[in-house]
Amino acid sequence: MNTLPHNILTFVHSLLSQHLKTGDCVADCTAGNGNDTLFLAETVGKTGKIWAFDIQEVALHNTRQRLQDAGLSEPVELILDGHQNIDQHIQQPLDAVMFNLGYLPQGDKHCTTQTDSTLIAIKKSLKLLRKNGILSVVLYSGHAAGFAECAAIEQFSGSLKQQDYDILRYQFANRPKTAPYALIFRKMTDEIIFQAA
Ligand SMILES: C[S@@+](CC[C@H](N)C(=O)[O-])C[C@H]1O[C@@H](n2cnc3c(N)ncnc32)[C@H](O)[C@@H]1O
Repeated sequence: MNTLPHNILTFVHSLLSQHLKTGDCVADCTAGNGNDTLFLAETVGKTGKIWAFDIQEVALHNTRQRLQDAGLSEPVELILDGHQNIDQHIQQPLDAVMFNLGYLPQGDKHCTTQTDSTLIAIKKSLKLLRKNGILSVVLYSGHAAGFAECAAIEQFSGSLKQQDYDILRYQFANRPKTAPYALIFRKMTDEIIFQAA
């Protein structure tokens, strides 16, 4: 059987599906066209809770449609706000948080995630994660804003202590250096490790 995903997004889904269970509480910090939100809704089920953020109406519209088609609207709260404000919407521990950076495929390429707000959102999300919670980030270095964003996230990741977080990088070794790749953070403690911005 061929179980090795051909695509980094599918790979992240397969990794998270081993970690998550029915009833878990999770956030999708970049809802986009709703692929990740739908995956999370299918995985945590109707007894779970999903918060999905995007700054574009069109993204939340597309996500809402995907969820309705699948009959999974109920456990999802769609939030038209930047993920950097995640702490204004969620005040409970999370089992997983997903980020898929960049711009909406087939959308406005200028409306892309930005280094400063992404870093704030990742720091706040790590603070919200429960012990053993997972935060996934899919990164794209192939456009100018993405290149700077990757460098800043790599620098931040490298600054975190081994005893506080396991952080793994997954990438295809035989694809261009600009191919999307993933960072996976596993929080090892319930303590707040640093002050979020
Ligand atoms: C690559 S797409 C996400 C794809 C999506 N996860 C999916 O499964 O279809 C990136 C999304 O991030 C959104 N975005 C950009 N800046 C944001 C911010 N500060 N907060 C929340 N979403 C943001 C964009 O509007 C875009 O829809």
